Amino acid sequence: VTDAPGPSTHWARWHLDYDDPSSALSQRLAVVVGRTGEALDALAPGAVRLISVCAGQGRDVVALLAGHPRRADVSGRLVEADPFNADVARRALDSAGLHRLEVVCGDASVTDAYADVAPAHLLLLCGIFGNVSDEDVRMTVMRAPMLCTAGAFVVWTRHRRSPDLTPRIRAWFDEAGFDEASFDSTGPEGFAVGVHRYLGPSVPLEPGQRLFTFLH
Ligand SMILES: C[S@@+](CC[C@H](N)C(=O)[O-])C[C@H]1O[C@@H](n2cnc3c(N)ncnc32)[C@H](O)[C@@H]1O
Repeated sequence: VTDAPGPSTHWARWHLDYDDPSSALSQRLAVVVGRTGEALDALAPGAVRLISVCAGQGRDVVALLAGHPRRADVSGRLVEADPFNADVARRALDSAGLHRLEVVCGDASVTDAYADVAPAHLLLLCGIFGNVSDEDVRMTVMRAPMLCTAGAFVVWTRHRRSPDLTPRIRAWFDEAGFDEASFDSTGPEGFAVGVHRYLGPSVPLEPGQRLFTFLH
């Protein structure tokens, strides 16, 4: 009998903290799921498109939709580069009966990944802003309107270690046409989860536009 391959890559092992309910990552997940659920509640009735950028194992999407009354409204795409994580996400969605969400194993950092799914009503940018340059965070925020319907919610995360970038991230969202719906944080050394609602004009998706480059 051969065991299934375990998490061997850095980004697969990163998810192991989710298995410890007392970890900061599990606490962050609870906030992300709670706030994304509120966003889903606030969206107009009808179809909801979701995009998760650098979706990892899709823990947030699965936890959100497993028990949400609007789960049947939601379709969309999770984009994740690590094949192990993408496979875990695909299986988890399948087990939860979430057959209208697809997992694409590929590069989430260029707008082409969203060509036939944007604009979304729910855009998850979780676990990205702590892994790219400040300039790339700014560029991703400025280009986020291309991925958003009018009234879309963006859920994002970032650690707050010094120098805390979250005040600038919040200002960039403001500049890009978003209103802040919520900002939760466990404090200056902890994590932050922000939710912003897009109130600007619709912006067509331009192919070939880079959003960010992971630093490691
Ligand atoms: C910090 S984890 C966050 C995962 C998930 N969003 C979460 O919050 O649980 C970052 C993820 O981004 C993925 N990733 C890194 N660069 C990527 C790229 N260019 N395209 C798609 N995924 C990427 C990694 O494989 C990793 O799973």
